Amino acid sequence: MVKGIILSGGFGTRLRPLTCMIPKSLIPVVNKPVIERQILLLKSSGVKEVVLAVSVMSDIVKNYFKDGKKLGIKISYTNEKHPMGTAGAIKLAEAYLENDNFFMLNGDVILNFNFKDMLNFHKKSNGIGTIASKIVEDPSPYGVLIANPETNQLYKFLEKDEYSPLNGKIIPMPVNAGVYILEPDIFSYIESNKKASIEKDIFPKVLVDKKVYHFPITGIWKDIGKPYELLQGSILLMNDILKNLKGKRKSLTDNSADIAPTTKIFPPCTIGENVVIRGMCKIGPNVIIGDNVYIDESTIIKESLIYNDTYISKNVDIQSSIISDNCLIEDRVQLRGKNENLVILASYVKVLRNIKLIAKEGESINFCHHVEVNESLN
Ligand code: GDD
Ligand code: MG
Repeated sequence: MVKGIILSGGFGTRLRPLTCMIPKSLIPVVNKPVIERQILLLKSSGVKEVVLAVSVMSDIVKNYFKDGKKLGIKISYTNEKHPMGTAGAIKLAEAYLENDNFFMLNGDVILNFNFKDMLNFHKKSNGIGTIASKIVEDPSPYGVLIANPETNQLYKFLEKDEYSPLNGKIIPMPVNAGVYILEPDIFSYIESNKKASIEKDIFPKVLVDKKVYHFPITGIWKDIGKPYELLQGSILLMNDILKNLKGKRKSLTDNSADIAPTTKIFPPCTIGENVVIRGMCKIGPNVIIGDNVYIDESTIIKESLIYNDTYISKNVDIQSSIISDNCLIEDRVQLRGKNENLVILASYVKVLRNIKLIAKEGESINFCHHVEVNESLN
């Protein structure tokens, strides 16, 4: 097996305004687009060719990866004019995938595990498909897997709105982690040119006459459906990368970073290329800064993601926030999310001096791209 397909065509509605100008599949996690990380993982497991099932903002994805040469892997694209659903999308790649089993990935999950173990399991179990699974405390937002505990063969696949916990009591369950190995036979269950969901329309039919198994994965896993999950997942991955590095590094700082000696970095943090941080700042813990970011004196940043090319002025205070590319934050601005409710600035947002954006319990603060924020919210 040498091929994989990555579903990269969802709208990313729950991640807005971050996905207004970039598709969900290109959202950075620890300074690399989420599907670039998946492509590299597939490559390290021996996959030589990947199809990207693109739809929404497909030109941006094609322009970023092109033919894949830069990543050392062959990349091609399906031609999906309208979103065809998770099954309709892979049906378009049938001619390309019909000769052997293949990996199929949801393009919005952060993970770091060895796909080879899963492939060995799949080969031994001899089913039409293997679904990677993860046990989560509250399975209700995911596809729930009901299986034989000894063989891992699935009896039922219940997509999120089809699952209701027994007696209303939420208990940990294995859920669909969004990574599959499928035999080409799966295509006989999917109609051409028809929108369909692999989770809701196809698996229930397949389970009636074929064997599908689940494979519990070890290591980190996070679906980045919502902004808080993106923040958590990015921090999870940063810690995982640090754990696997040789030597005892506490932060990932690019050599090109210019950080004043009076500034304190509280690990773990990630600092990208050509970042300048002036004196007396406090950065971290749990801060991920992209490339070409300038941070002026006495600024404090905690628990936040800052994408590329952003300018942050003096005495700024940022906490539980996500700041996209090309933003401009003036002096003494305060951006403070609260728990799961973040402050989110899309690309090219300008926040004028002394503005305070303080999220309240249960309400996040979002600004769309190219907006000038001239009024406080607190
Ligand atoms: N090309 C294409 N076309 N891609 C699509 C389409 C489509 O019409 N619809 C969705 N996708 C992509 C999304 O971009 C995402 O990468 C993936 O398919 C899954 O869609 P989501 O909308 O993110 O689904 P979800 O997170 O609610 O649930 C899915 O993922 C969970 C794990 O993360 C399901 O597969 C669940 O069963 C699973 O537990
Ligand atoms: Mg998802």
